[in-house]
Amino acid sequence: MSGDLILVLDEGTTSTRAIVYAPDGAVLATAQRELTQHYPEPGRVEHDATEIWDRTLACARDAIAKAGGAERIAAIGITNQRETVVAWDRQTGEPVTRAIVWQDRRTAPLCASLREQGLEAHLQARTGLVIDPYFSGTKMRWILDNVPEAGALGDRLAFGTVESWLVWKLTGGLHVSDASNASRTQLLALDGADWDDELMAIFGVARAMLPEVVDSLGRLGETRADLLGRAIPICGLAGDQQSACIGQHCLEHGDTKATFGTGAFVLTNRGKALPRSGHRLLGTVLYQVGGERTYALEGSIFVAGSLIKWLRDTLGIIRSAGETEALARSVSDSGGVLFLPALAGLGAPHWRPDVQGVAAGLTLGTSRAHLVRAAMESLAHQCHDLQEAFAADGAPWAKLRIDGGMSANDWIAQDLADVLDLPVERPADIETTALGAAMLAGVGAGLYASLEEAVAMRGHIASFTPHMDAPARASRLSHWRAGLEKHLALGC
Ligand code: G3P
Repeated sequence: MSGDLILVLDEGTTSTRAIVYAPDGAVLATAQRELTQHYPEPGRVEHDATEIWDRTLACARDAIAKAGGAERIAAIGITNQRETVVAWDRQTGEPVTRAIVWQDRRTAPLCASLREQGLEAHLQARTGLVIDPYFSGTKMRWILDNVPEAGALGDRLAFGTVESWLVWKLTGGLHVSDASNASRTQLLALDGADWDDELMAIFGVARAMLPEVVDSLGRLGETRADLLGRAIPICGLAGDQQSACIGQHCLEHGDTKATFGTGAFVLTNRGKALPRSGHRLLGTVLYQVGGERTYALEGSIFVAGSLIKWLRDTLGIIRSAGETEALARSVSDSGGVLFLPALAGLGAPHWRPDVQGVAAGLTLGTSRAHLVRAAMESLAHQCHDLQEAFAADGAPWAKLRIDGGMSANDWIAQDLADVLDLPVERPADIETTALGAAMLAGVGAGLYASLEEAVAMRGHIASFTPHMDAPARASRLSHWRAGLEKHLALGC
């Protein structure tokens, strides 16, 4: 007899976690392990897929033990960093190379050549995605062209995003990918049930290498009995940003969330209609149930939490992330400093993999607090750039629901409300990525009748209302815009 708890595996960019939820959304147990970031060359970011698996399994075992054993777990939900490509040998089940992470820019030349072939408009119309090294298709192509072991495997080669890799390992060989993750590869048409022949031909990726595209919830597979104490059904799968959108209860058309993790990703629910953007936003699958898709419009910011990590670990100008709030409050403004955090190129709506980070306006009077404040102000400004693009696409935000580690910072939450001139809401549990996967798995396992019913799992909400005066806001916005335009023009 199985219990009624849900185990979520939340495999992010910098760490992997396991969380056990009670049916009312209470967190009963957690376990977390950091992931090693490999930066073999400027612009390259890699993960060891074996480490991802080993640490995810260790976290799952820890969390299950803390929650009282595998008998208490009804279902597993998996949510993951998206676009990152794992390549493995179906026969041995071992990776053939390091995973290429979503932040990796190595395929910029390949992207430029796709653009030169005039494919941008066509690819965006079919997949909802612009041409950028961010997405999985060019990463798969790069592996085929540059990793002899991969090319030599033929049909034994398996590609997958991280949820696909974890399901393969957990089940002992089931090769699936849920539609929300598959929609980030550029190999799936937004309205196509399966991988698209023409898109696969453009990227030179064979169907035999790819997983089966499946729903985001349902009885999707079962873990090997020897791994976690018993065979546990896998009942929910979703990319982390789609999962956070569900966890934030963005279930109605127009509902919008921003998750501040390694990057910051804004998604607006667009219902059943295919999301189209004329302003460099992305159309993406939010989730798929019974083959039917709900879509979202997305704005992807590549650097958010990673900026604070960089200030702490690389520059050493802060000791802890928590220190940023007091430092930002210790000065009345950024002292004229503008920080363009293009440490992994710029994502939406600019899509400039060639642009690098800039700190401008430095003087002898610039303090550590000014630099940190300018870095933090850049988050709201990047969100404001997205807000304008969403509005221009006919998807204006009525309010913004925020979550993820950085959203705990009250200064950032208030600055977002002020710069966006919009109410901002933050749930008590800011780990909505994991909560969304729990909701999917709960519905998939039959513990709830629908995602709407699973919303009972959502807790108390804190609200932030705009109170910056209009001239101060206008001055912030024009300072940012002038700096951004200058650096985009310079391409540095
Ligand atoms: O698309 C990349 C995204 O999935 C990464 O998420 O949580 O690591 O910022 P996160």
